Amino acid sequence: MNLRLSYYGWMVTRRLVKSGLLHLGDTRENDVLLDLWTGFSTPYVNSPLHNSLLAAAVVELTAETIGRDEIQLRYNRTPFEHLEKIIFEFTTFCNFNCDHCYNAQVPRVTESNPKLLAEAADTFIRMGIRRFDFVGGEVSRYGTGWLDLVEHIRAQGEDIIISLYTNGWWLEQENFAAAGQFFVSDQAYLTELVRRGVNYVTFSLDGQNEEHDVSRHQVGLYRKILNGFEKVKCAGLAPRVSLLVRPNWTEEQIISFLAESATLIYDLAPTLPERKRALRLSLDPTNSISSFIDIGNGAGDERVQFPILEKNEHALYCRNFYRLSPSLTIKANGELATCRLSQAGEGYGNLHERPLVEILNHFDEAFVYQLHASRSLEEYLPLVDRSLFGNAFTHLCSLRSIVTLLARKMHEQGVLPKDSAAVQRINREVAILTGHG
Ligand SMILES: C[S@@+](CC[C@H](N)C(=O)[O-])C[C@H]1O[C@@H](n2cnc3c(N)ncnc32)[C@H](O)[C@@H]1O
Ligand code: SF4
Repeated sequence: MNLRLSYYGWMVTRRLVKSGLLHLGDTRENDVLLDLWTGFSTPYVNSPLHNSLLAAAVVELTAETIGRDEIQLRYNRTPFEHLEKIIFEFTTFCNFNCDHCYNAQVPRVTESNPKLLAEAADTFIRMGIRRFDFVGGEVSRYGTGWLDLVEHIRAQGEDIIISLYTNGWWLEQENFAAAGQFFVSDQAYLTELVRRGVNYVTFSLDGQNEEHDVSRHQVGLYRKILNGFEKVKCAGLAPRVSLLVRPNWTEEQIISFLAESATLIYDLAPTLPERKRALRLSLDPTNSISSFIDIGNGAGDERVQFPILEKNEHALYCRNFYRLSPSLTIKANGELATCRLSQAGEGYGNLHERPLVEILNHFDEAFVYQLHASRSLEEYLPLVDRSLFGNAFTHLCSLRSIVTLLARKMHEQGVLPKDSAAVQRINREVAILTGHG
């Protein structure tokens, strides 16, 4: 048998090489990693060194018949090569029920063992990841223990970027409980976020003024958030936004929406053209901008743009299922997920059931990985029950998620396409999850 780097080991070695920490001759372990990194095959010997690298899952055994080119091809296909950030969902509980929320029908759960997430963060940091987002649900309200995890991550380096996504419910509140802690004011809350090591507070906005407040069912929230940017800055944090762009908006509306937040966030002169201010915000990767996705509470939106075409007329597969870019999500139930819509991106493994490194090293064996990488998702398109889901979607990701869920559930339950009663039952299960039930 020979040794080769595992996916995890390839990432760890790349980080060491990039940081200039691997030098030939320093240690015998470094020599093995460098040999493998540069394509030399290393025959396995039953030695403490090889066994400890195997136990750490940095390397794995491979047959001697597997040549250098094949190993190089595998290295070139490392699913995590372009991974930049980890999203901790942490909780699916929320104190709002927004009109557009893609996760409205997903079961409510909060991570019961945050220690697992701390260990996961350490693993990702060893792989070179320097960015962590806490998203939810509403982590700030229901994510008990999330700030301990922030503190743990912060201790690994000042350059790590940690963001909280929030609906802003705590702004202008007094004497409130947030994720198991008590605060006398929003300023006190922000002071605690700084103390624990958060960098960015990212507020969601779904439109300007009333449009945001109506979709969030919260009168005056848009103004509170815009005023909140300054409070966040005064506390020593950076405000950011997660924007929802609606399909019916004109270009001018979109630019005005982005420019209004940009002016306050980056202290831009209001005399600067709106387009330039909007560009400043959109080019900063610590903000996020998403088109409205008609799934969950947003399902059944009338402004449909994509009819369900015949098989092979869509590019229905999504690269993110097998070449993650930029993020991987750890769901509140412990599942690793490549897509955050409903439960579509799950199916690779669960932190509560298998060690993270083992899941990462076998990522390409997951059915959902192969479904997208082999472009076979469209085979399942004719099985989508249009009487439940309709004939058209506003966002192609809605259809992708539905077909992915249908295919995965059929695979997990051993259902064949010709078993129309079982396919119908699974269609109904998926419809309930995605807001079409
Ligand atoms: C699920 S929320 C969780 C964070 C927090 N509760 C909030 O709303 O800021 C994360 C982001 O997803 C966005 N989002 C939710 N449903 C969406 C949809 N159907 N289409 C596009 N973005 C959506 C939200 O607006 C928010 O910015
Ligand atoms: S978008 Fe955020 S605030 Fe609104 S219901 Fe979903 S998780 Fe809650």
